[in-house]
Amino acid sequence: PDYTITATPSDSGAAIADSMYGVFFEDINYAADGGLYAELVRNRSFEFLPADRSGYNGLTGWTVNAGTATTASDDARLNDRNRTYLRTTGAASLTNAGYNSGLAVQKGQIYDFSVWARADAGAQLTVSLGGAALTKAITTDSWAKYTGTLRATDTTDAGRLSVDVDNSARLDMVSVIPRDTYKGHGLRKDLAEKVAALKPGFVRFPGGCLVNTGSMYGYDAANNYPRARSYQWKDTVGPVETRATNTNFWGYNQSYGLGYYDYFQFSEDIGAKPLPVLPALVTGCGQNRATNDPALLQKYIQDTLDLIEFANGPTTSTWGKLRAQMGHPKPFGLSSVAIGNEENLPDQYFANYLQFRDAIKAKYPNVTVISNSGPDDTGATFDNLWAKNRAAGSDMIDEHYYNSPSWFLQNNARYDAYDRSGPKVFLGEYASLDAKFANSLAEAAYMTGLERNADVVKMASYAPLLANIDNTQWRPDLIWFDNDESWGTTSYQMQKLFMNNVGDRVVPSTTTGAVVQPKPITGRVGLSTWATAAKYDDVKVTTPDGATLLSDDFGDGNADGWTSLSNRGTWSVQDGAYVQSDTAATNTMVAAATDITATDYDITMKATKT
Ligand code: AHR
Repeated sequence: PDYTITATPSDSGAAIADSMYGVFFEDINYAADGGLYAELVRNRSFEFLPADRSGYNGLTGWTVNAGTATTASDDARLNDRNRTYLRTTGAASLTNAGYNSGLAVQKGQIYDFSVWARADAGAQLTVSLGGAALTKAITTDSWAKYTGTLRATDTTDAGRLSVDVDNSARLDMVSVIPRDTYKGHGLRKDLAEKVAALKPGFVRFPGGCLVNTGSMYGYDAANNYPRARSYQWKDTVGPVETRATNTNFWGYNQSYGLGYYDYFQFSEDIGAKPLPVLPALVTGCGQNRATNDPALLQKYIQDTLDLIEFANGPTTSTWGKLRAQMGHPKPFGLSSVAIGNEENLPDQYFANYLQFRDAIKAKYPNVTVISNSGPDDTGATFDNLWAKNRAAGSDMIDEHYYNSPSWFLQNNARYDAYDRSGPKVFLGEYASLDAKFANSLAEAAYMTGLERNADVVKMASYAPLLANIDNTQWRPDLIWFDNDESWGTTSYQMQKLFMNNVGDRVVPSTTTGAVVQPKPITGRVGLSTWATAAKYDDVKVTTPDGATLLSDDFGDGNADGWTSLSNRGTWSVQDGAYVQSDTAATNTMVAAATDITATDYDITMKATKT
């Protein structure tokens, strides 16, 4: 078609920062344990609890093949924050199955083994993996760390770690980590390399919904043991055996082997700025709880100040000293922190945010403090939070949205009208839903709109980053993996293209000619909304000229052609309607109708919501 783009070189276009595009790492889809964190042993500290996910127990990941071995939680524990250990009575033989199909090992590679152990009257420990074995004499009845190396003689992606003792013993923190990790810093090499290949300008971490949710206090008061709590960075630093494990928002146990120090180190290793997200003492992600406890709020705020000291403070400071002890005396150069994620209670969130912001600015005036716009990309909460942030002169607002490819094509101009003098935008999470090639094209088209508005949109990160093929809570995702392989999606390639070719400045351009219509697509359309215990009926997908592509009243008891792309919430057909029955949380419904051939992108989906 006759279509002309005229570019006029000039300095009037917006400057694009090198750090414009980054990545958002969240421990979702087993992205940390069994993913980026290179530990091969699943449940190394015997801390999995049924509360984390039904079917879990202290021996999850382990099989007792002979003898008596049970978990124990008593005064003989390793320490107060690592409360459960393995107790054998006499000789016992166990195996650990690792993640996915097993522990992946390669012939000739070295694997570092370690365990904390004690034995009632001396015991011999034998471990084997990938054809290699080692023995250790456990000589005392007080906890000590035993280490050794295993050089695999076989290559397998279905290895088992065998652990045998010939006498009564206590074991904890049974660990096997490949010697060959990314830059020697304990992260799985292929995954870290794939993230590094993007050349991200920043790493946002550790969530997402992971950050704020769970109990505010989350302490088992009787035992002074933190559990099911919001993400507390102090739980994730220091020796790994003192990092109390936690259940996470996505329903599984997290070891915190990948902790804040590791996130900072990884950011530095890939040349990206670290961008931590701190809990705001108001739940987000559909949960509507705020805690009116000024003392607890002050603790959260102080923890945030302490984090900045941990990252940047001198080695003589309390937290800077810990950073140095962990191996990094030099500051990490933290320049931005984000407060909260997708809070549903805007007033409570904003009141807390202001207190965080003021305390941070008073002590660290040069640190950018990022607020957010709640869970929606438009709407009352969004408007409310944007208005509040504008009035308060916030530095930057974190926006999130997951929408159909057509939404991304139709909203290319979203930021053209944003106030140039107000807070800047951090597009902390976005992705077009479903996982087809058309998605990456829609995302690319959208990213041209982000760049055109680089004076307002300062940073953007696709989400989520990683997904374990056997344990997925959310899709689409940028990089997929199992226990020994990983692969990027077409969206990954698109992000890589943009991130590796960040321009310096937007060149003003004009277009003339007929508007090119997007090509037909065959695929899925989705209905994405936030809803608690939502119920949909009479769903219709129609073209602009009124032709019905799909119609479903759910009267036959089936949701034919519909799938939920997001696993938040359980959807089923009940009483002739499509019902999301999880009343505990607000859920994203992304129901997709398959096998639709649309003649253009302007198809509409309507549903009666009851
Ligand atoms: O990226 C997955 C989830 O989507 C994030 O945890 C949350 O912030 C958003 O709702």
